[in-house]
Amino acid sequence: MTGSARSDHDSPHGTPHDDPHGHDVGEILDLDADLLGEQIAAIVASLPVRTAPVRIVDLGAGTGAGTFALLERFPDARVVAVDASAEHLRRLQHKAEQAGVSDRVKTVRADLNGAWPDLAPADLVWASASLHHLSDPSAALERVRALLTPDGLLAVLELAGPPRFLPADVPVERPGLEDRCHDAADRRVNAHVPHRGADWGPVIAAAGYTIESDRTLTVDNPRPPAGVVGRYALLVLGGMRRALADDLPAADLAALDRLLDDGDPAAVTRRDDLVVRTTRSVLLARP
Ligand SMILES: C[S@@+](CC[C@H](N)C(=O)[O-])C[C@H]1O[C@@H](n2cnc3c(N)ncnc32)[C@H](O)[C@@H]1O
Repeated sequence: MTGSARSDHDSPHGTPHDDPHGHDVGEILDLDADLLGEQIAAIVASLPVRTAPVRIVDLGAGTGAGTFALLERFPDARVVAVDASAEHLRRLQHKAEQAGVSDRVKTVRADLNGAWPDLAPADLVWASASLHHLSDPSAALERVRALLTPDGLLAVLELAGPPRFLPADVPVERPGLEDRCHDAADRRVNAHVPHRGADWGPVIAAAGYTIESDRTLTVDNPRPPAGVVGRYALLVLGGMRRALADDLPAADLAALDRLLDDGDPAAVTRRDDLVVRTTRSVLLARP
């Protein structure tokens, strides 16, 4: 799989999704969708549905990266987009109106760590980069199994590796900077997002599903659209800079500052050598 990538949205991996002070998440999710659109569409196109789904649930829908790909692929379907964030759902709704598909989308604001809204029945449940956010993914998977129709399908996408933007030798004064940022971020994120990077196959199977496929997709796009990837890198690396101020050596922080300074010729917003590399798990399962 080549083309582009998406981020995890787990601050301090750069996005303030788990950062109550963050304000860039919706934009990051939209940039993510721009960069990963082709890949999401390919995954959706290859879903082994037995009959065309009519009722789809997008769990942790964010700003709709999955929702719109699903609507496009399944023209007779309606999607219930569930998310805890009113702001993400507002963006999603706005996009649905712009695209003329608002009659096929229902947004439901709900914290899936609490009482669940009535979502049954669902022919297809799509959960992209959302399960790991939940306090008890196993319990959530059992709930999902109960709302899936007998021939229904669960599609779980999870990030296997965070997005990388810099070529290995960049920045020249601090090679390996991005690796060190991610190592430091892992130490922080793992403490409060314990399910991130889980081995999802066994978790899904233990919740009573039959795994239909479990694959890891590698995204390696050496030439992403410059404007989009520059902005995306700015927001992600900027989030890391803020979150990791106490964790990185001063020289790394200074190198990050240069990358984030739009007035610097080395800034991510001015470079033409940014890449997008990441890996993603895609699991398909039957109830
Ligand atoms: C990384 S984003 C993924 C968004 C979207 N699925 C995508 O692929 O672009 C994770 C989403 O899960 C939502 N989320 C996190 N915890 C949640 C919870 N407890 N209940 C409902 N949604 C939650 C967030 O608001 C966010 O939109």
